[in-house]
Amino acid sequence: MEPHVDPTLTVRPIGFIRTGKQLKFDARHQPSETDPERNVLELLPEPDYRDALRDLAGFSRIWLVWWFHLNPSWRPLVLPPRGPAQRRGVFATRSPHRPNPLGLTPVQLVGIEGRRLLLGPCDLVDGTPVLDIKPYIPAYDSFPDATAGWIDEVEAVLNAPPQFSVHLTAPAEEQAEWLRTGWDIDFRSRLIELLARDPSPHRTRRIRRRGDLFRVIGCGAWRAVFVADGPRVEVLALEPAYPLRFLNDPKLEDIPDRQAQLAFMKRWPEQLGLKG
Ligand SMILES: C[S@@+](CC[C@H](N)C(=O)[O-])C[C@H]1O[C@@H](n2cnc3c(N)ncnc32)[C@H](O)[C@@H]1O
Repeated sequence: MEPHVDPTLTVRPIGFIRTGKQLKFDARHQPSETDPERNVLELLPEPDYRDALRDLAGFSRIWLVWWFHLNPSWRPLVLPPRGPAQRRGVFATRSPHRPNPLGLTPVQLVGIEGRRLLLGPCDLVDGTPVLDIKPYIPAYDSFPDATAGWIDEVEAVLNAPPQFSVHLTAPAEEQAEWLRTGWDIDFRSRLIELLARDPSPHRTRRIRRRGDLFRVIGCGAWRAVFVADGPRVEVLALEPAYPLRFLNDPKLEDIPDRQAQLAFMKRWPEQLGLKG
C-alpha cells in the first residue's frame, strides 16, 4: 500500500543562481575544480533567510539542490554525453531529463555577503532556481572507494589512449577571434574540450555527420565544422546555427546571439564550401 502523501508536492525556490551562462551548452556537465570562475546564488529577500544561513560560513563546500527548469520532459533511457553512444537508465545517470527534474551539485562556498552566496565553479545555467542548500560533510558525503558502474568502465576507456588533439585552422581561428573581440562570444575552449573528449557522431554531444567528409558539432547558437582523422581533429570553420529565415523572423524572439549571427553571415556569406 502506498503511504499517504499528497500526490503533488510543492517546492519553492529559495533563490536563483547567477552564472553568466545563458545556454545549456555553456554549462559544464559537472563542475571542474580547476575553473577559476565565480558564481553567485542570490537568495530571495522573502522570507528572510539570514538566520537560516547562520553557521554555514565554516563549510568550504555546500550541496545545491536545484531544478532543471529548462527541461520540459523526461525519458526513462537517456544518452549520456560521455563514452560510446549507449542509452542508460536515467536513474543511473546525472541527466537533466528526470521525472522530477532535480539537480544536485557540490560547490565551493567562497563567501557569504548578506543574502548573496559567492560560489566556485558549477554546472548550472544562469537563472536556475535553487531549492535548497546543505553543507557538504566529507565524513558523510565522501566515499572514495565506492564503485561507479558504467561510469568506471567509460572512464577507463576515456583515460586510455588514443587522446584526440584538436586544432583550429587559420580561418576557424579568425572566426573565433572575430566573435570574441567583436561580440564577446567565446566558445573556443569549450569546443576544444568537447572534441578532445570524443569527436564521434553522438546525439547528446550534438555531433553529426555532414556528407562523407565533415562532421558538425552544435555549440549553442553556433556550430563548428570539423574533420577527424585518427587522433587528430581539425576545426575548419564556425557557422551560425540558425537559418536566415529564423533570424529574420521577428516572431521568434528568443534566438540567442541573433545580431552576431546575422553579422557573421554578412562577413562569411559563402562559408568556405563546407556543405558536405
Ligand atoms: C549533467 S547535468 C548534472 C547536474 C548536477 N550536477 C546533477 O548531477 O544533478 C549538468 C548539465 O545540465 C544542464 N543544465 C544546467 N542548468 C540547467 C537548467 N536550469 N535546466 C536544464 N538543464 C540545465 C547543462 O547543460 C549542464 O551541462
